[in-house]
Amino acid sequence: MGARALSVIVTAISPAYGDVWPMAAKGGTVKAASGFNAMEDAQTLRKAMKGLGTDEDAIISVLAYRNTAQRQEIRTAYKSTIGKDLIDDLKSELSGNFERVILGMMTPTVLYDVQELRRAMKGAGTDEGCLIEILASRSPEEIRRINQTYQLEYGRSLEDDIRSDTSFMFQRVLVSLSAGGRDEGNYLDDALVRQDAQDLFEAGEKKWGTNEVKFLTVLCSRNRNHLLHVFDEYKRISQKDIEQSIKSETSGSFEDALLGIVKCMRNKPAYFAERLYKSMKGLGTDDDTLIRVMVSRAEIDMLDIRANFKRLYGKSLYSFIKGDTSGDYRKVLLILCGGDD
Ligand SMILES: *[C@@H]1O[C@H](CO)[C@@H](O)[C@H](O)[C@H]1NC(C)=O
Repeated sequence: MGARALSVIVTAISPAYGDVWPMAAKGGTVKAASGFNAMEDAQTLRKAMKGLGTDEDAIISVLAYRNTAQRQEIRTAYKSTIGKDLIDDLKSELSGNFERVILGMMTPTVLYDVQELRRAMKGAGTDEGCLIEILASRSPEEIRRINQTYQLEYGRSLEDDIRSDTSFMFQRVLVSLSAGGRDEGNYLDDALVRQDAQDLFEAGEKKWGTNEVKFLTVLCSRNRNHLLHVFDEYKRISQKDIEQSIKSETSGSFEDALLGIVKCMRNKPAYFAERLYKSMKGLGTDDDTLIRVMVSRAEIDMLDIRANFKRLYGKSLYSFIKGDTSGDYRKVLLILCGGDD
């Protein structure tokens, strides 16, 4: 038996990994187009937008089948051959959710996160779900780049904006996540695993009132491998899943943030499948969330999100999008989804 086959079996039976590892990662749906020619694409787009009316299908046939890096090349080629900014032209020709998804696809990854964070905090009201989703799911390295880009883009600090838009423990967990200080290694220290699990148990279940800071410290700073083992140890000593304890001991956005972190650690594609499901279930659609998750995960793990969606909800992501959206907006989202399951 090869080392790889053995490790698959070992991780499949290791309780720490639960439903995470047995499924091999499948990746994204959007890939670099082969035979790509930025100049030709720029001309096609120009033709689709020139004069009266807009050929939306032509725009979709180019942009939905290129990856983010290629779309940037198209933008550059458009500017150098036509002397206009592609983004400006798209903005003046398109509208509504179709415009938003296309503009999202035209935005470099980190900048897109930064714009979404800003949107979530700008003006009256706060989109707490967006703040949690981005800050809990991106890697420490990505968080640091988001932090820098936010400052460059808006001349203000991400942390200050978080502080002025949120409060109490929710603010503290977001500030902590925005510091990008999570250990990125794989290192496991059994004594620390037991200590963290015991501390969480004592901070939550064991006494009246919760020592919330303990949850924050452990969940925001430890590496993923460590945390998966802490969750197992926690279950062993408390007879409960950490999620159950978080639900009974905390509430509101703070609860949502802690649950978001735990879910991202256990199985990130399942977390995004849930975000998508919640954005579409019932009456009305949360288009902000639907667009952001579809655009930001298409190249990374959309196939895994689809598999988890089907497993968790018994229906395909494709069928949900089809039933909840319409027109050109639906066409693009279904291409990002990449197929039915
Ligand atoms: C975030 O950006 C601010 C402003 O540029 C900087 O002072 C701070 O150190 C950064 N924080 C992290 C964690 O990179």
